[in-house]
Amino acid sequence: MSTHPAEPFRIKVVEPIHLIQETEREKALQRAGYNIFGLKSDEVFIDLLTDSGTGAMSQDQWGAMMIGDESYAGARSHQRLSAAMEKIFGFRHFVPTHQGRAAENILCAVTLKEGQYVPSNMHFDTTEGNIRARGGRPTNLVINEAFDNKSDHPFKGNMDLKKLEDFIKQIGPENIPLGMITITNNAGGGQPVSLENLRAVSKIYHSHQIPFFIDACRFAENAYFIKLREPGCENKSTLEIAQEIFSLADGATMSAKKDAIVNIGGFLAVNDSALFEKICNELILREGFITYGGLAGRDLDAIAVGLMEGLNEDYLAYRLGQTAYLVNELKKLGIPVIEPAGGHAVYINAGKMLPQIPQAEFPGQALAVEMYRAGGIRAVEMGSVAFAYPDPDSGEMHFPEMELVRMAIPRRTYTQSHMDYVVNVLKNIDAKKESLSGYRIIKEPKLMRHFTATFESVS
Ligand code: F0G
Repeated sequence: MSTHPAEPFRIKVVEPIHLIQETEREKALQRAGYNIFGLKSDEVFIDLLTDSGTGAMSQDQWGAMMIGDESYAGARSHQRLSAAMEKIFGFRHFVPTHQGRAAENILCAVTLKEGQYVPSNMHFDTTEGNIRARGGRPTNLVINEAFDNKSDHPFKGNMDLKKLEDFIKQIGPENIPLGMITITNNAGGGQPVSLENLRAVSKIYHSHQIPFFIDACRFAENAYFIKLREPGCENKSTLEIAQEIFSLADGATMSAKKDAIVNIGGFLAVNDSALFEKICNELILREGFITYGGLAGRDLDAIAVGLMEGLNEDYLAYRLGQTAYLVNELKKLGIPVIEPAGGHAVYINAGKMLPQIPQAEFPGQALAVEMYRAGGIRAVEMGSVAFAYPDPDSGEMHFPEMELVRMAIPRRTYTQSHMDYVVNVLKNIDAKKESLSGYRIIKEPKLMRHFTATFESVS
């Protein structure tokens, strides 16, 4: 029997969960148009839809919320968050935002013009959406190993440095108002980026005067992977590694709902004072005053504490151990998963598991629906529903490299027996996988269709 490091906490408050009957689950699926975003949380037993905003806050975070200062301007909560920001990230300026995509929206508003490009290893869907919404073109330049399930590359989130150089030459740095990198690479399996790669990316961007922004959602998990896997980093603390990472960049966006283990919040940080001024104007228009940015003072305190807890190495050992445990158990069953295990989530390669379903009929959607039907588990498609898009010039559909289903693990929320339950449900699905068929879309919005599209079975 394999295990992961025992949970480094005990449970003080519990939230009951309940598995509804299979007939009720079928009705819920029909009502939701076979889109798991349309399910009510009472209808879900194990909710692995996202690790975003779904973590359990600690006693210290709840305690900090009680001393939240709700002053409109200059609140003590903002000062406490500033201190944590300075310690970890070290950027000259930051504004809080209500979540990560708000930071992305403001960053795109103040930097991007129509027709310009923003390279990254891989953009997350909200980042892509925000870039496209301003007429920009997000470009993914991750290393090829990211898509090679046989490769055990320790940093599959790395940027392909040659692709990046070639891309900048081809497009011209004047058409690239900023360059990004996502740590860990959520859209590519929650895989980390090495410190060495971050240093090289920073150097390339800067040699072309392109400002370098980090999507920092899961920076602490990335820092711990660096500590575990990168030669020369084993004796550095995750805090030291994080400090080094951010010293390489000109700014960052972050959804604090991930590695700051809060239910809501984010930030946009920059060094450039002129850019910061534009950011403040945009923030005040859309989010709120610069010392609260659309959050309550108490939320800022929870983030300030959570940022440091997210870097705690006992917690990170358990956190990454839990994900690795789930990957190992599924591997034993022969279910194709992205390896090595990523940080926050386990990704099943549904295209491989269900080869009878073509990409245009969404194998990932088929598996996600079946996981709910079979066991009340909510996971999310990350394949052609989420990422296929028509080429802006030719109109031709681009399909993503892989048809994935993501099981994101909320932080400090589920135990090992919950993980074992998930493994059992997937074992039962695997036994009858040949009988599953695909889906077609009945209705979809123009951008980010996976949230609200409705489907029907093709069978
Ligand atoms: N960047 C990355 C890498 C993300 O994973 C997310 C959110 C965002 C930006 C946007 O942050 O949700 O606070 O606006 N990811 C969530 C997820 C939604 O489920 O992976 P947000």
